[in-house]
Amino acid sequence: MKALLQIEHIKKYYGHGTNITKAIDDISFDVSEQEFIGIMGASGSGKTTLLNCISTIDDVSAGHIYLDGTDVTEIRDRDISRFRRKNLGFIFQDFNLLDTLTIHENIALALTINQIPAQEVEERVGRIATQLGITAILNKFPYEVSGGEKQRSACARAIVNHPKLVLADEPTGALDSKSSQMLLNTIQSMNTELGATILMVTHDPFSASYAKRILFLRDGRISSELIRGSKSRKQFFNEILDVLAVLGGDLSVVR
Ligand SMILES: Nc1ncnc2c1ncn2[C@@H]1O[C@H](COP(=O)(O)OP(=O)(O)O)[C@@H](O)[C@H]1O
Ligand SMILES: [Mg+2]
Repeated sequence: MKALLQIEHIKKYYGHGTNITKAIDDISFDVSEQEFIGIMGASGSGKTTLLNCISTIDDVSAGHIYLDGTDVTEIRDRDISRFRRKNLGFIFQDFNLLDTLTIHENIALALTINQIPAQEVEERVGRIATQLGITAILNKFPYEVSGGEKQRSACARAIVNHPKLVLADEPTGALDSKSSQMLLNTIQSMNTELGATILMVTHDPFSASYAKRILFLRDGRISSELIRGSKSRKQFFNEILDVLAVLGGDLSVVR
């Protein structure tokens, strides 16, 4: 399958002189269309920095990142927010729904900003709401819906614009295990049923076991890779635990 995302020898250094942190120290990998890739690593291994470089929130010190052929490291500042709105979907840890907007308005926001005609906005919001089972709550405000409904609304918002890539940084970080499972099932169906390409950063092996492939980061480098293949999620989870045991470090096993 075609590589949607190509990461080529990126480096990200913070600080200067003798006080340099190599947050990313020469990372290269490809992500193909419709992949669901997990990035694992202990705290401080460079996961968020990597995600921020891909999402153009941070700029690289060296190297190139191509999304569908466009070098995101070369996009001019004034074009960046437009690029993000058009090409990327985000799932945040606290979901970031705006309290003063209804669920419908939250989901439609990116489309409205992109000046999509009203009728098409209606169609797209309606379709994604049906797919994620939230049609009944579209006219409610975030504080009027359950935690699971908030999650699905945030997922709907991330994907309604048909982004090329959906990025999630520790999406289950603030959730109990039941809510985590619900969110992970939703993210998985965004991938398998709606065809979204997903890159999820997590230090949690349970969350990572939903991905199709996992890259392990250590000190800003890729230290190993696991591919799920035809294994069950449970088998994959055990394999992840084995890798973590070998790699050592302070990855917490919470389940
Ligand atoms: N804005 C920053 N300024 C200086 N150092 C940073 C900054 N952001 C991250 N770092 C450092 O870069 C390394 C990687 O951090 P980060 O990408 O946040 O790791 P992770 O998300 O895996 O916990 C850490 O050593 C961290 O302290
Ligand atoms: Mg982080």
